[in-house]
Amino acid sequence: MHPMLNIAIRAVRKAGNLIAKNYENPESVETNQKGSNDFVTNVDRDAERAIIEIIRKSYPKHTIITEESGELLGEDHDIQWVIDPLDGTTNFIKRFPHFSVSIAVRIKGRTEVAVVYDPMRNELFSAVRGQGAQLNGYRIRGSNARDLDGAVLATGFPFKSKQHSAAYINMLGKLFVPCADFRRTGSAALDLAYVAAGRVDGYFEIGLKPWDFLGGELIAREAGAIVSDFTGDHGYLNSGNIVAGNPRVVKALLAEIRSELTDALKR
Ligand code: IPD
Ligand code: CA
Ligand code: CA
Ligand code: CA
Repeated sequence: MHPMLNIAIRAVRKAGNLIAKNYENPESVETNQKGSNDFVTNVDRDAERAIIEIIRKSYPKHTIITEESGELLGEDHDIQWVIDPLDGTTNFIKRFPHFSVSIAVRIKGRTEVAVVYDPMRNELFSAVRGQGAQLNGYRIRGSNARDLDGAVLATGFPFKSKQHSAAYINMLGKLFVPCADFRRTGSAALDLAYVAAGRVDGYFEIGLKPWDFLGGELIAREAGAIVSDFTGDHGYLNSGNIVAGNPRVVKALLAEIRSELTDALKR
């Protein structure tokens, strides 16, 4: 096994177990507000600390970028571990049992190893670049839908900033006509992992952060999906505007939303 995959798996399992234990113990959870509709708990922070500790032990020089601590520059800037210790904090707080831990390892700007772990279902999605994607050790492939007819799309509502609400609702309206249905389950990392497993045919969301999608992105790609921004390009690392699915679904999806893109969303 890839040595960094081994460490990434150990780290997400440790964090996942910690999250699951606290989920059973709601009185141990303390919640603070970071911004509008944006919350963090002691469990996000504890999970993050546990992950950092495991990585630091094996790779003391690597750079670590996390949602709650920001960038912890190591001597080695070329290798970055990008971490979301708890993706789906709103679900966790509401006791809606769907959230994950995500780790992506990037070397010189390219993701080489990715892990997304759902501790409530004990589902471990993983990928090493060029070696395919796996769920609990078994190879997974994305959907082979031909277009949006009959397609189920995952999405995330842009709930932290209402800046793009109108454009987003217009996109949903456009897509709802040809699609079968939508799913909004509250963890971007799992949305991408579900694209990889063919549990949804496609996915789109506005304004994600790198730690939300970098792990799921490699897993989706290694399962045969493509990932792009809203214009079919690669601007999503900066904009966080993401579309994923097989090439036919992404093409059809982009064609539907094209007319609804504001200038700010054209990247
Ligand atoms: C959020 C989740 C959610 C998505 C948000 C993310 P967090 O991450 O991935 O599904 O819609 O945009 O910020 O804050 O729970 O780690
Ligand atoms: Ca958060
Ligand atoms: Ca997240
Ligand atoms: Ca998070």
